[in-house]
Amino acid sequence: MDQPASLSRIDWVARSCRLLAATAAEFRETQPFAGLTIGTGIHLEPKTVALLMTLRAGGASLVCTGNLNSTQPETVDYLRARGITVFATQTTNADEHGASLDAILAQKPDLLLDNGGDLFARAAERPYAGLLGGTEETTSGRTRLLPLRSKLNLPVLVINDSPIKQFAENRHAVGQSLFESYLRFTNRSTNGKRVTVFGYGACGKGTAACFRNAHACVSVIDIDPVTALEAHLDGFVTPLREEAIRSADILITVTGHPAIITAADLPLIKDGTILMNGGHFPHEIDVEAIRDSADIAGIDRYEAEHIETVRLRDGRAFHILGAGHMANLAGPRPLGNTVESMDLGFALQARCLERVARGGLGRESCVVPVPADIDAMVAATYLDLAR
Ligand SMILES: NC(=O)c1ccc[n+]([C@@H]2O[C@H](COP(=O)([O-])OP(=O)(O)OC[C@H]3O[C@@H](n4cnc5c(N)ncnc54)[C@H](O)[C@@H]3O)[C@@H](O)[C@H]2O)c1
Repeated sequence: MDQPASLSRIDWVARSCRLLAATAAEFRETQPFAGLTIGTGIHLEPKTVALLMTLRAGGASLVCTGNLNSTQPETVDYLRARGITVFATQTTNADEHGASLDAILAQKPDLLLDNGGDLFARAAERPYAGLLGGTEETTSGRTRLLPLRSKLNLPVLVINDSPIKQFAENRHAVGQSLFESYLRFTNRSTNGKRVTVFGYGACGKGTAACFRNAHACVSVIDIDPVTALEAHLDGFVTPLREEAIRSADILITVTGHPAIITAADLPLIKDGTILMNGGHFPHEIDVEAIRDSADIAGIDRYEAEHIETVRLRDGRAFHILGAGHMANLAGPRPLGNTVESMDLGFALQARCLERVARGGLGRESCVVPVPADIDAMVAATYLDLAR
């Protein structure tokens, strides 16, 4: 028998990304990125390592940075130990992050892999010769880059606009990871609990379903009556907003909009309720205003658990998880969305970059969705591996 190997989380994730592993095996033969440099600006954490190593298997030289506040030092060490150039520090300082972005663009990469539009927005202002185009991961990046299309004038494929990303990550993975995060933060049960989910978009649908499957009684609130009707026909309780807050043991926001639960709701919140957010920005639960409310007698903090208990003057108390930040990326040992959902999204990334590298797209493909044939190829490969 071999000596037992001591492996890291990065190794676990890499070995779990079966689609990327298959893509890397093909890229080793076909070398779509031979002689090209790819500049990347995406979270430096274990799942992106699997993507970056796939691109390198395809012959790419990589220059990498992360996003604001999400760079994991072990990931940076791992990449550097494999000879990959990384300009990144774990920082919330926009200027420091900007310096890393500038360092990437100073290398004049042939392709860019962007997350939030940080790299392409800079390249639009300071264009350089040789940039072929690239990919953007997110909705927020798409919104930022659309007005820059005429300046960019290059193929940029938006991964979020693939139906696969919508259902694999937003619908299925976000619900699972918010449910996992509720258990991880609280170690409390869901059985028989009354849960209210605000927002019944892709993320809210998965969240409501995961809590219902865990034997909770789930209510849904959505301001769009058509979407609320869909929730009703899906079998969820759709009470009026006030009743949905009054009755909830667990309140979850996942709308993408600010001020969903505010200090004005304090009279409605039941003693013992747990509040958590799954939306991108930490503004869906107005934590600051709640903390500052005159109705508050005090706040107790479980520092290591990232839970705060807000005590009201009338004797009620409720709990906020992760200060209202995206709960699946907050608190102790945040894991984010499942490896499989990211494997799918990153396989789309790898194939889209391959398409741009091979010159398969014109300038009109600037900030457009993933080509349908790439969606079909990635879906078919995933199903083959699952059989
Ligand atoms: N946690 C994660 O890992 C993760 C992953 C992907 C997306 N997100 C975020 O989750 C949020 C939701 O994404 P989505 O794809 O479901 O969006 P979506 O636009 O598909 O759905 C949002 C829903 O919220 C409803 N809504 C808006 N304002 C409301 C209000 N005041 N009260 C009740 N309902 C309201 C809308 O009508 C809509 O049905 C976004 O912020 C997105 O960035 C988080």
